[in-house]
Amino acid sequence: MELEHLLQNNRRWAAGMRERDPDFFLRLSQQQSPEYLWIGCSDSRVPANEIVDLPPGELFVHRNVANVVVHSDLNCLSVMQYAVDVLKVKHIIVTGHYGCGGVRAALLGMRLGLIDNWLRHVQDVFQKHQAEVMALESESERVNRLCELNVIEQVVNVCHTTVIQEAWARGQGVAVHGWIYGLEDGHAHSLHLGVSGIEELEPKYHEALAGLITLPNS
Ligand code: CO
Repeated sequence: MELEHLLQNNRRWAAGMRERDPDFFLRLSQQQSPEYLWIGCSDSRVPANEIVDLPPGELFVHRNVANVVVHSDLNCLSVMQYAVDVLKVKHIIVTGHYGCGGVRAALLGMRLGLIDNWLRHVQDVFQKHQAEVMALESESERVNRLCELNVIEQVVNVCHTTVIQEAWARGQGVAVHGWIYGLEDGHAHSLHLGVSGIEELEPKYHEALAGLITLPNS
């Protein structure tokens, strides 16, 4: 069978987990109570659980190309609503990554097909910050800065959803964070944009925009 090796991997992995903790799967099957919602890029090199070294059950995950949070995206909004209202996660982490292919395509206006419509949202971010991005010299610097700016803008989008606004209004403790991940060294960095109430959003947004940026290999 074509995918036999994957199923073999799976049995080996499950056996290893049971060896360390015989009741692990049984316990998890009864309930999940993750503290974190991860919103990240679909890129195969940015696997949510591995990056923060958390086992199954600890991270609720939504991924799409270029980690975009769109107010009309029923998929992403449903994940957020379930995570916040039902699971009561305490943190939402929007994680972008340097060298993102989706961000690069948006920046360069590449034509890739249907996905161009999705990446239009990243182009909006680019247009908003065009002067700053274009002031950078190399293409990789521009891509990487737009990757950071995209995370910052998506954090704002998360904060503006009815899900978060209502959670904050009823006094539920949930904070929204922006991170960026480096493919070259496997390090995730905070963009210093932890927002735990609507009154914090505006000042933290401007702080994050002015913040020192980490640009690997550029
Ligand atoms: Co990406």
